Amino acid sequence: MLNEAGLVERSRIIMEKPFGTDLASAVTLNGKLHQVFSEEQIFRIDHFLGKEPAQNILAFRFANGLFEPIWNRNFIDHVQIDVPETLGLGTRAGFYEQTGAFRDMVVTHLFQILAFMAMEPPTALEPRPISEEKNKVFRSMLAIDPINVVRGQYAGYRSETGVDPESDTETFIALKCAIDNWRWAGVPFYLRTGKRLAEGQRIISIAFREPPKSMFPVGSGVGAQGPDHLTFDLADASKMSLSFYGKRPGPGMRLDKLSLQFAMHDTGLIGDVLEAYERLILDAMRGDHTLFTTAEGIERLWEVSAELLESPPPVRFYEPGSWGPKAIHQLVAPHAWRLPFERAWRDPNKTKS
Ligand code: BG6
Repeated sequence: MLNEAGLVERSRIIMEKPFGTDLASAVTLNGKLHQVFSEEQIFRIDHFLGKEPAQNILAFRFANGLFEPIWNRNFIDHVQIDVPETLGLGTRAGFYEQTGAFRDMVVTHLFQILAFMAMEPPTALEPRPISEEKNKVFRSMLAIDPINVVRGQYAGYRSETGVDPESDTETFIALKCAIDNWRWAGVPFYLRTGKRLAEGQRIISIAFREPPKSMFPVGSGVGAQGPDHLTFDLADASKMSLSFYGKRPGPGMRLDKLSLQFAMHDTGLIGDVLEAYERLILDAMRGDHTLFTTAEGIERLWEVSAELLESPPPVRFYEPGSWGPKAIHQLVAPHAWRLPFERAWRDPNKTKS
């Protein structure tokens, strides 16, 4: 219709997800779009990439010499991307019933963030080189094995207005995936998200390998609170934190988990932060594709998801306000949800205290 109305030439279109619901529908959708629009005219929004802290991942990684040398399998034990939400369905039952947490959050937002974390340095901070590197990450991703996935549904979901009383839609998902390339082979990436959980957060954490040997006395506390972590909080008022062991003051050698923290709030620049959609719509108007996803990237993500979509594991119930299906999700995401910076880390089995 846009074509018939003569609205295609010199125009750009911004698309919201879903970009298909599986590989076949994504290929069909992209085919139809390309009959009318060239890829350069299409801007597929993933609003997580428009968040200021997501772009800060690129700045942090590629504008500094400090961390890039250790950003690989030799030094990193695992990576977690955790996006618990307290929100329920609201009035979106029609959309959500067809979608579920995997399609709504993982195929779109969490995989895109994963690509920023895992990609090689682009040759330039420009759309094509960045897309190239992101797509290389997606090409190196191994197909997701349903054995590495836990799906959950909060108790009461099936009685919400517009939801099928026998719905199999997941409102929670935890999965382990792998990027099988030279930088990341053997490093598990744990992705978790869900609705009606105990707290709302958007946290990426990188756990570094522990020292090979410890000379600290037994009971000193070294290693007692997990490995050192570098953590990014994707809230608009973004934060970063690096946790490490340090000496507790006083006699003897007792160790505590300490941290170095950066909070955007402290810079006085928080007022300059653009809301994700403001930033992305502005970029689309300027014709800048840097933070938008490509047809190729989307299709590859559906490809690695095919087996899971065909044979999803059964949904397991969880209480609203909890941390998801009891203990079971630790099988595929064995580490605690990493939450607010002030509280170091928390047992995922304990509900909000
Ligand atoms: C949307 C999803 O894309 O992102 C929602 O459809 C989700 O289900 C939302 O709640 C989360 O975005 P944000 O920016 O609020 O973390």
